Amino acid sequence: PRHFAIVPAAGNGSRMAASRPKQYLPLLGKPLIFHSLAVLCAAPAIDKVFVVLSVDDAEWRRHDWSSLGPKLVPLFCGGATRADSVLAGLRAAAHEVEPSDWVLVHDAARPCLAPWHIEKLIRELARDEVGGLLAVPVADTLKRAGEHRQVLATVPRENLWQAQTPQMFRHVMLRRALEAATHVTDEASAIEAAGLHPRLVEGDATNLKVTYPLDLHLAEWILSNREG
Ligand code: C5P
Repeated sequence: PRHFAIVPAAGNGSRMAASRPKQYLPLLGKPLIFHSLAVLCAAPAIDKVFVVLSVDDAEWRRHDWSSLGPKLVPLFCGGATRADSVLAGLRAAAHEVEPSDWVLVHDAARPCLAPWHIEKLIRELARDEVGGLLAVPVADTLKRAGEHRQVLATVPRENLWQAQTPQMFRHVMLRRALEAATHVTDEASAIEAAGLHPRLVEGDATNLKVTYPLDLHLAEWILSNREG
C-alpha cells in the first residue's frame, strides 16, 4: 500500500485571539503551516500531501508553496468541523487513493513534526490491521472538576496518553468511520466508535499543537534548535 497525507487546515484558530487563522501566523519567516507541510512533502514514504483549506480561504494564494514540490495538492473543500474537513479531503482525493492505502491525517497546527515521528509511525503500524497514532504518556496529575471547580476526583494517569498527529489509518476504514461518527475531535475516536482499537506509537512533546500564543514561541525554539 501507498501512504498519503491529509492536512486539515480549514479552522479559524479562535483560541489564538489573532487577526488571522493560526495556520498562517508567521513562524521563522514562513506561515506556520509551511513547516507542517514541508516535513510531510519531504518524507520519502509519502506519495502526496492533500491540504484541506476553507472554501473562502483568502490567504493560501498569497504565499509561494513551490519549494514544497509536486506532492502538495491544495483542496478548497473544508467543512464546519475538523472531521468534516478530513472527510471532504478524503472524498476529493478518492480517485487517487486505493481502499487499502494508508492515510496520515496531520494537524496543520503541529509545525514541529520531525522526520523520525513519521518514520516511526509508519514502521510500527506497517503490519497493523487498523492503524494508530502518535501519542505521549500524560505527565501531569489530572483532576476531574465539578461545576464550581471543586475537585471531584484524581484521575490516575497510569495508561493515559495525549493524542497527537499524524493519525494513520487505511483509507476505506477511515472514510467509513468518519461518515458514521458524530462529535469526534480526532480520527482515532471515529475508529474507536466503530469498535476498533487504534495503536499508540510513542512520539515526544516536541510535536506540540499550536493553540495558544505561548505555543508559537515554543515551536520557534524547537524548530531553531533542531539538528540538521
Ligand atoms: O482547532 P484545532 O486546533 O483543534 O484544529 C485542529 C486542526 O483542524 C487545525 O489544523 C485546523 O485548521 C483544522 N480544522 C479544519 N476544519 C475545521 C476546524 C479545524 O480543518 N472546521
